[in-house]
Amino acid sequence: MELAEVVRGRRTFRKFTSEPVSREVLERVIELGFWAPSAGDARSHVFAVVGGEKRNEIQEIVRGAIDDVRRLVEKEFAANRPLVEEIVDFYVDFGSAPVLILAYAGKFVDGEDDVASVSAAIQNVLLGAYEEGLGTAWAGRTSMCSAEISAAVGIADRTLVGILPIGYPRVLPGPRAQKEGDVRWLGL
Ligand SMILES: Cc1cc2nc3c(=O)[nH]c(=O)nc-3n(C[C@H](O)[C@H](O)[C@H](O)COP(=O)(O)O)c2cc1C
Repeated sequence: MELAEVVRGRRTFRKFTSEPVSREVLERVIELGFWAPSAGDARSHVFAVVGGEKRNEIQEIVRGAIDDVRRLVEKEFAANRPLVEEIVDFYVDFGSAPVLILAYAGKFVDGEDDVASVSAAIQNVLLGAYEEGLGTAWAGRTSMCSAEISAAVGIADRTLVGILPIGYPRVLPGPRAQKEGDVRWLGL
């Protein structure tokens, strides 16, 4: 696929089949995350790739916080009731995705979180997954239980920026209308 085709074709997938994703494919996709630009070329972000019982443990933690997730999503998408339900359902079981990639921010030398670099890396992973025929999403609303999740995966000193459920898509999203981007041309 051409790069532009991958960029325009990538979507948020919220439902997955139970087909396992091979370690080899996961490694190929995740490796792309370390080719993204990163501040100071530090590449200090961390991806935890979680399947099996540990994946289910994380799901249970998020389920335990589902009322808080709902409150947050309802506020964010007040005007779009069906989307609220879709997103909350997604948090209940991560769309049955067999694997979760937990993306943790690296640190700047002063100890601040480098959220920008991990975000660039996440985008590479999302695009790479799409090119492999996989679906992903970026579940970024888990701050209410991220301490518990991080304890479960043994990552104590990092900020969880997103959970990326990954698997083979079961339901394809509808077409996305492209929004007019706010681009301001100056001096050209
Ligand atoms: C920082 C960030 C956080 C997001 N958090 C969530 C989330 O918590 N739950 C969810 O279902 N989608 C989440 N998304 C996905 C967006 O809802 C999605 O990208 C947007 O609706 C556009 O759809 P598309 O990705 O199919 O183009 C997030 C995306 C980003 C970039």
